[in-house]
Amino acid sequence: MIKIIDCGSQLTQNIARRVREMGVYAEITSFKTPASEVRTRDLEGIIISGGQFSVYDPGAPIYEREVLELGVPVLGICYGQQSIAHLLGGKVVSTPNREYGRTKVFRKKSSNLLGFQEDSFNVWMSHGDIVERVPEGFEVIARSENGHIAAMQNISRRIYAVQFHPEVDHTNHGREILAAFLNICNAKRNWDPAMQYEKIVEQIKAQVEGKVGVGGISGGVDSSVASVLVGRVAGKDYHPIFVDNGLLRLNEAEQVKNSLEPFGLNVRYVDAEKRFLEKLKGITDPDQKRKIIGHEFIAVFEEQARGIENASYLVQGTLYPDVIESVPVYGSSSKIKRHHNVGGLPEKMGLGVVEPFRQLFKDEVRKIGERLRLPKEVVWRHPFPGPGLGIRIIGDVTERKLDIVRKADAIFIEELKKRDLYYEISQAFAGLLGGNAVGVMGDEGTYQAIVGLRAVVTNDFMTADWYHFNPEDLTAISNRIVNEVKGVNRTFYDTSQKPPATIEWE
Ligand code: XMP
Repeated sequence: MIKIIDCGSQLTQNIARRVREMGVYAEITSFKTPASEVRTRDLEGIIISGGQFSVYDPGAPIYEREVLELGVPVLGICYGQQSIAHLLGGKVVSTPNREYGRTKVFRKKSSNLLGFQEDSFNVWMSHGDIVERVPEGFEVIARSENGHIAAMQNISRRIYAVQFHPEVDHTNHGREILAAFLNICNAKRNWDPAMQYEKIVEQIKAQVEGKVGVGGISGGVDSSVASVLVGRVAGKDYHPIFVDNGLLRLNEAEQVKNSLEPFGLNVRYVDAEKRFLEKLKGITDPDQKRKIIGHEFIAVFEEQARGIENASYLVQGTLYPDVIESVPVYGSSSKIKRHHNVGGLPEKMGLGVVEPFRQLFKDEVRKIGERLRLPKEVVWRHPFPGPGLGIRIIGDVTERKLDIVRKADAIFIEELKKRDLYYEISQAFAGLLGGNAVGVMGDEGTYQAIVGLRAVVTNDFMTADWYHFNPEDLTAISNRIVNEVKGVNRTFYDTSQKPPATIEWE
């Protein structure tokens, strides 16, 4: 396995996903992990991630120097390159000539790491500091168009570093560079998420066989795949709970029922719409909405779970990123957004926690879902936030507004599917912008609601671009919504990128 030393970059997970895509198991560990713990028997190589710090910042994420001396190859990325230089006696300085975004890089020396044809290639950079002098025994293998050191190596110690980000798509040859490093490591390519299936089933058996348990189910891929797997082992002793919080999309509960029907799950559907809408009355603050919806969910879930006699475990679709995020990474501001985060419930009710996907990324869970023959609509469904339409309505949440959003959203999604765009887009939705706009219908003026449309393309949901529609598609979608949804006279399409915008509006 490859261990990735996390120095706080938003892109650390991308590195792990890329390495796993190439068939090598990768794990992320904090920069605070002592070298003695980083070293494990199956360790084949180490990657030092980027991070938004300077090595000179007070509290900068500096790992033990011994991490570089474990006898396995090391690759530093961005801050990783700077910290390697810093720890091994090179010199790091800040530069007025910052490089951000697409930058041209020139190879200066042959290297196994940069083993492709072109002598110059475009990469994605994001840094204020540079390595001014490489440590003794290192050589510069590439420079940027600004003359900065873009890559260095020490072949005998098998330590390599790049100033750019090979783990993002904007870097040409990025995958090849990571693959070259895996070759240098002699890493075994034996990781296949679909093969994890047997192992996961074994684990589930050990945890749930012959026991009664509960779990949250939302219709999304993680909770559905988890429930189907546990259902296979525990049968009717497993009770998945689906809470209709009144903030779901049009016919969503029905659709979830239909798609899970063939799997013979013992799903309990709870209609809690009234409770949620009552609690949300007049609330406009996004944080408060989230909090209310989260608390109410836990309350409803607990009531239901208490009604299931002898329940001894709780199934959750926790993924690897949730686990990493919950280890406080220095400087990381990422919030945990778990769909069915039932807070302290397991402790309170004395339930064991069953989390079959703690080691997997979402795309890996999808592979298992496909193996289980879950319908494509479930496996490749766009993510839908736990607080649902509650955070897609700017301002207070009312039944009338919910009704408008549901209809507009259903038309939008239907059109995307009809036009074969749904699976090209990572996440799409219609929501309600605040206030009303003036329009004209026949001879009369109107003053009606404004529907906002959002469609983004992203790999990791941490950065995202808006989807570039054909104007004809957007026109047709807008026309349908304005014509068919009563009370709407205008649509806006959101063309902001994340960052600085987020995907949801609240
Ligand atoms: P943002 O809006 O932060 O969203 O760019 C990134 C991804 O997270 C989802 N999201 C949430 N999921 N509870 C959830 O379960 C939440 O409160 C929440 N907020 C955002 C969002 O839909 C997108 O996929």
